Amino acid sequence: MSKITAAITAVGKYVPDYVLTNKELETFVDTNDEWITTRTGIKERRILKGEGLGTSFMAIKAAQDLLQKSKTNPEEIDLVIVATATPDLLVASTAVYTATEIGAINAFAYDLQAACSSFLYGMSTAASYIESGRYKKVLVIGADKMSSIIDYTDRATCIIFGDGAGAALFEPNSEGFGLKDEYLRSDGIGRDFLKIDAGGSILPPSEETVKNGQHFVHQEGKTVFKYAVSNMAEVSEKMLTRNNLTKEDIQWLVPHQANKRIIEATANRVGVEADKVMVNIHKYGNTTSATLPLLLADYESQLKKGDNLIFAAFGGGFTWGAIYLTWAYNS
Ligand code: UT7
Repeated sequence: MSKITAAITAVGKYVPDYVLTNKELETFVDTNDEWITTRTGIKERRILKGEGLGTSFMAIKAAQDLLQKSKTNPEEIDLVIVATATPDLLVASTAVYTATEIGAINAFAYDLQAACSSFLYGMSTAASYIESGRYKKVLVIGADKMSSIIDYTDRATCIIFGDGAGAALFEPNSEGFGLKDEYLRSDGIGRDFLKIDAGGSILPPSEETVKNGQHFVHQEGKTVFKYAVSNMAEVSEKMLTRNNLTKEDIQWLVPHQANKRIIEATANRVGVEADKVMVNIHKYGNTTSATLPLLLADYESQLKKGDNLIFAAFGGGFTWGAIYLTWAYNS
């Protein structure tokens, strides 16, 4: 009997209509298009406007895009995971609401939070359920409304982040396509460098925390940058060496979109040319949990059955890792 692997069989996406350009940011904070473009590679990002719309709004749309394109019956889905750092509500799961809204009435659902590595970890979780034979259809959605936790007077963070959602369906494969290897890491040393101080159990919300702006993301960019560059490169390289792959064996590098310079450093270490590196940071900025599935959706038409993909991500916590996956279909 051949081994069951977990393949991605469909992808979908949603980004909000509102485009926040570098030019518009110049009107909020002391920055400029030239600085943002050269230091990050970002030209614009999407922002979800509209009262009462949270992360689930985008997660639902991305999932519906996937269901419609792949003609998947939502009632056949066993599990819905929403990878997110910005859930709709603190306790009630965003994934549960999303699953119900898309008609996945036979699924169970939960959220997975690992900052910018949430989707990568979600891929590993989905693959484990499939490989074990326990479930047949696992939907992983990466969605974040970063604009809900950004201080638009802080130029260190407001230029970077954007809103969006992407989705991928994992199913069993007996031809050997799908997730082949993974190397996932974390280190609590990162806790102080990228975080929201208040609103959690250490420092519950108060008038004081609101006044002090402690519900917004704070990042020590330089430090995070340093860790991101070395760690994303290291784990990506490990995927190659551990699987006896050369750079010629890799068709696509799928890196978390935090900074063009981090993406380039990772690509250099792996040794792949720029045309093999998926990039959409210029359009969406850093959408946290949504960067990897948004890349898959944007590049889906160029992906061919049998292509070898290396995913890599780094985020708050710190959390990071890489996944080696073989693409399972031609679109
Ligand atoms: O996805 C989760 C993980 N996150 C990341 O991977 C993000 C990692 N970090 C980064 O991408 C970069 O550190 C940033 C894009 C956040 C910042 O870039 P940097 O090259 O590290 O800039 P810096 O913070 O070292 O600042 C360099 C200079 C400073 O001026 P001085 O002190 O040299 O005069 C800053 O004050 O640039 C200044 N600066 C800005 N200038 C214009 C900082 N932010 C801005 C800005 N516009 N928005």
